[in-house]
Amino acid sequence: MTATIDTPALLGGTPVRHTAYPSWPVWDDGERSRLLDVLDAGGWWQGDGTVAATFARNFAEYHGARFGMAMTNGTHTIEAALVACDVGEGDEVIVPGMTFVASASAVLAVNAAPVLVDVDPDSLCIDVAAAEAAITERTKAIVAVHVAGCAADLDALTDLCRRRGLRLIEDCAHAHGTFWRGRGVGSWGDFGSFSMQRSKLMTAGEGGVLICNDEGLRDAAWAYSDCGRVKGEWFYHHATVGTNLRMTEWQGAVLQAQLDRFPEQNRIRNDNAVALNAALAEIPGIRPQRRDPRMDSQGNYCFVFHYDAAEFAGLPLRAFERALGAEGIPMGVSYPSLSDLSVFRDERFGPRLRASAPTIDYRHLHLPNAEAAAASTVWLQHRLLLASREDVLDVARAVEKLRVHATDLVARS
Ligand SMILES: Cc1ncc(COP(=O)(O)O)c(C=O)c1O
Repeated sequence: MTATIDTPALLGGTPVRHTAYPSWPVWDDGERSRLLDVLDAGGWWQGDGTVAATFARNFAEYHGARFGMAMTNGTHTIEAALVACDVGEGDEVIVPGMTFVASASAVLAVNAAPVLVDVDPDSLCIDVAAAEAAITERTKAIVAVHVAGCAADLDALTDLCRRRGLRLIEDCAHAHGTFWRGRGVGSWGDFGSFSMQRSKLMTAGEGGVLICNDEGLRDAAWAYSDCGRVKGEWFYHHATVGTNLRMTEWQGAVLQAQLDRFPEQNRIRNDNAVALNAALAEIPGIRPQRRDPRMDSQGNYCFVFHYDAAEFAGLPLRAFERALGAEGIPMGVSYPSLSDLSVFRDERFGPRLRASAPTIDYRHLHLPNAEAAAASTVWLQHRLLLASREDVLDVARAVEKLRVHATDLVARS
């Protein structure tokens, strides 16, 4: 890779990228014809059709799990998993600080207390030692997030949960297609929860799939998502408390078409991410998100790297991101650490947690690694990883260009 010495686009130069990266979502006649099939069949909800349920089963099988349930979104799937694991009032659930709010708000939704713990500074996934240290007699489960598709240490987590009698819920919203020692993520814990919201690696605009291997857990999660019904029993027999979290057949149709092309997309994204990691690792001040060698593939919801402003003449992260965006690189942005969200800082839990007032002091909680990651990592949109290898390596060229001109960028920022 040779550095482009042109002036940065933000300072009036020519951007590294002259053409746009692939757009997202991707669709074709596969989605179109499957949607028309649902329309013409007239069975538009799961009660009348088999499309969403079949998709969820195929999706589960792809990730190495026995059962898949098609639900409304990747927040509700975590909630259903928690209910099926009998998590509720008075219980604590350990959640890592570097994630989307849903990993923790789903815990609040079942009136349990999320216990926020720090993350590994390199992978950004849950620090398993910190999780173990946070266990109390109230702890029922761990929600482990595979951040930007990088698998949390599933060997250590499954071992910890087995030793301490805890449930493991894998939040795989970022990790469709991540394989750990030969098997898909989501199939290692008690449940794997996936989101199919618009930005995700497979999408129907909204949607979620919950996968698992245990029939009893499957039945409990499905009953919660289907108004407390029992499979095979009378329609108006409601055996337990539930709600309606059912995916529509429309979403199932689109998602089956997305699944049909997923393995090839996953291969392209993974191979390009490996190449981009190697190119970026050569640049002083850039450190790619750590890739655990036990992963066979990483389903990159985002492409993440650590940025050290000191190697860029002190150029602040946000100014670096603006400059990279101006070079034509599709930018995302890191989540804030959960410890910095108002909902936790100000303990704005509304009616939640009243009966089981938490012993946790969220107001003064600090998660140094999650907070540092939020202030020093760059998140790029996964759509760029579907481009050709040379186009993907333009990211590294753009970063190197900004480093060469960092002093000028600082002067103008
Ligand atoms: C880590 C994580 N968990 C859960 C969710 C929730 O998924 P959904 O938006 O489908 O409810 C998201 C969505 O962005 C997420 O990033």
